[in-house]
Amino acid sequence: MKSPRELIDLCVKETVLSIAPQVSLPVTLVRPCQEVKHGDFQSNAAMLFAKSLGVNPRTFAEQIVEKLGETNLFFKPEIAGPGFINFKIKPETCARQIADRLADPRLGIDLISNPQTIVFDFSGPNIAKEMHVGHIRSTILGESLSRVFRFIGHRVITDNHLGDWGTQFGMVILGYKRGGNEELLKTDPFGHLESLYKSVQEETKVNEATLQAARQELLKLQQGDSENRALWQKFIDLSLAAIDTIYARLQVKFDHTLGESSYNDILSAVVESLKQKGIAQSSEGAVVVFSDKSLPPKEDPFLVSEKESGFRDNPFIIQKSDGAFLYGTTDLATVQFRVEKWKADRAVYVTDSRQQMHFNQLFATVKRWGLPIQLDHVWFGTILGEDKTPLKSREGKPIKLRALLDEAESRALAIITEKHPEWEESKRQSISKIIGIGALKYADLCQNRNLDYMFQWEKLLAFDGNTAPYLQNAYVRIRSIFRRNHFTVPTNPQVTLNEPSEFNLAKKLLEFKDAIEIVSVEYRPHFLCVYLFELATTFHKFYENCPVRDAEPALQSSRLALCEFTAKTLAQGLNLLGIETLEEM
Ligand code: ARG
Repeated sequence: MKSPRELIDLCVKETVLSIAPQVSLPVTLVRPCQEVKHGDFQSNAAMLFAKSLGVNPRTFAEQIVEKLGETNLFFKPEIAGPGFINFKIKPETCARQIADRLADPRLGIDLISNPQTIVFDFSGPNIAKEMHVGHIRSTILGESLSRVFRFIGHRVITDNHLGDWGTQFGMVILGYKRGGNEELLKTDPFGHLESLYKSVQEETKVNEATLQAARQELLKLQQGDSENRALWQKFIDLSLAAIDTIYARLQVKFDHTLGESSYNDILSAVVESLKQKGIAQSSEGAVVVFSDKSLPPKEDPFLVSEKESGFRDNPFIIQKSDGAFLYGTTDLATVQFRVEKWKADRAVYVTDSRQQMHFNQLFATVKRWGLPIQLDHVWFGTILGEDKTPLKSREGKPIKLRALLDEAESRALAIITEKHPEWEESKRQSISKIIGIGALKYADLCQNRNLDYMFQWEKLLAFDGNTAPYLQNAYVRIRSIFRRNHFTVPTNPQVTLNEPSEFNLAKKLLEFKDAIEIVSVEYRPHFLCVYLFELATTFHKFYENCPVRDAEPALQSSRLALCEFTAKTLAQGLNLLGIETLEEM
C-alpha cells in the first residue's frame, strides 16, 4: 500500500507530465509541509520546472492545481508564496487507510518490487585485541541498516570482515612461542594476547633480530606453516568466542564471518589480474594503481592536492616491495568474491570517516576492473567524551565495549530499582538489560552519522526526550491500556478521526513508510528515530485529549485501533533499530 505522500506524489507527477511531457522528473516531488498550518504536504514542482519551461511558476502552479482538483485523498490544493502547492488530506481517507493496514503484520508496507542482493559489511574488528568503544558505531549502524533493507524486501547478506590477518599476528605468535600460557589464553584471551603482543612490539623497537623473527613467523603463517597455522587458529577461535558474547548482548548476528584471512589464497591472482588489465603497475618495486585521469583532479582518489605544485600521485598500493599484500588487496579480493559467489548487486561498508580515502580508491579500482557491483561507503564520526575529545576511560585508555555495556545495564538497573523496588531482582535485571542496551544503541542511531557526538549517560537514559526509554515507555503505556482495562484489539474497526489529535496521530502513523524509505535511500537511521519520537509525542497528545476508557463503544474501538496501530509501529520501528520493546518498565 502506498503512503498518502506517495499517492500525492504520483498524482503530481502524472499531472506535471500531462501538462509538460518533456520534463524529467526527480525521485520525489512531494514532501511533508514544514509548517503544519500550510497543510500536510507540499510540492515545489511548479518552481522546479517553470524556468526550463519558460513560464511563470505561479501560473504553472495554478495550472497544476486546476488539473489536480479535489480527490478522494485531498481537498483542492492551495498555492502559496512563489508557487508552492499545499495539500490537506481528508480524514475519511486516512481513517480507511488505517483500518485497512491494521490487520496486516507489515502495517501495509509492501515488499519492494525490484529487490537486490546487498552485502552489509560492518563491525569488522581487528581481533588480536578486545573490542572497544570505537567498534560500536559500525556494529550498531550496520545492524540497523541491514534490518531496514531486509524489511523492505532486499536479499541482505551480513558479513563480518574481521581483521584477522595483519602483521600483529607475527608478533603474537613469536610472543606465544616464547612465553605463552595455555591456561591464561583460555581464561583471558585478549589480556594474554595483548600482553604478548606488547612485549614483543616493545622489543622490536630496540632489537632488530626480534623484528626479523616476528616477520619470519608472519611469513611462515602466510605460507601455511602448520604449527603457526594451528596457533593462529587457536587465537582466532578464542578471541571470536569472546567477541561473540558481545554480539549476543547487542543482538547482532552475521550471516558470514569471512575475515581478511579467508582471501589469502587469491590475493596474488587479484594482483595479476589488475596488472594484466593494465590497471595496476610496478612502481619502485611495489604494485600500485595510479590515476587514469578520468576524473577532475579534485575528485580523483589517486591524487592529493599539494599547496604549491597542484596535485601529486596518491597511488592505491596493492602489493609492497617485499611481496606482502595489504588491506586494499584483501578488499579487492573480497569484492570479487561477493560478486562471483553471492551475485551481489551492492555492497555497503560501514566504517569511520578515516577510511574514506581507502574506499574511494577501492571503489574506483573496482570500477576500472569492471566488476558489476554498486559500492557504497557509509561513514560516521567520532564519539566524544564530555571534554570533546574522543571518548576514553578515566585512565585515558580506550573504553572496552564490554565495560560500556556493563555500565549501561547497571545504570538502567539503578533507575529501575528506584522506580520499582518491589520487583524481583531477576525481573529488574532482565528489564534493565533491554533498557540499557537499547538506550546505548539509540543514542548512536539518533545522531546524523556524519557528525561527532558527545556521549552523556544521563541524557541517553532519560525517560523524557528523544531517547530509547521514552519510546519504549510509550509502547509500555499502550500495552498497559489494553492490559489494565482488559481491552482486546478491535477487529474490523470503524475508524473515525473527528478530533484534531486523532487525525494528527493517524496522519503520523501513515508516514511510517516514508520514514523507512528515506533511511534506506540515505543510509541514515536517524530519520527513523526522528519519526518514532514524533509519533510518540503525537500519541501522548492524542491520549491526553481523547479518552479511551469512557468513550462510547464505537468511538472506543476506533481509538483502540489507533492505540494498537501506534504500538505496532513503535515496536516495528524500534526493531528496525535493533531495539527491543517490553511490556512493563
Ligand atoms: N578491520 C577494519 C577496521 O578495523 C574494518 C573492516 C571494514 N571492512 C572492509 N571490508 N574493509 O578498521
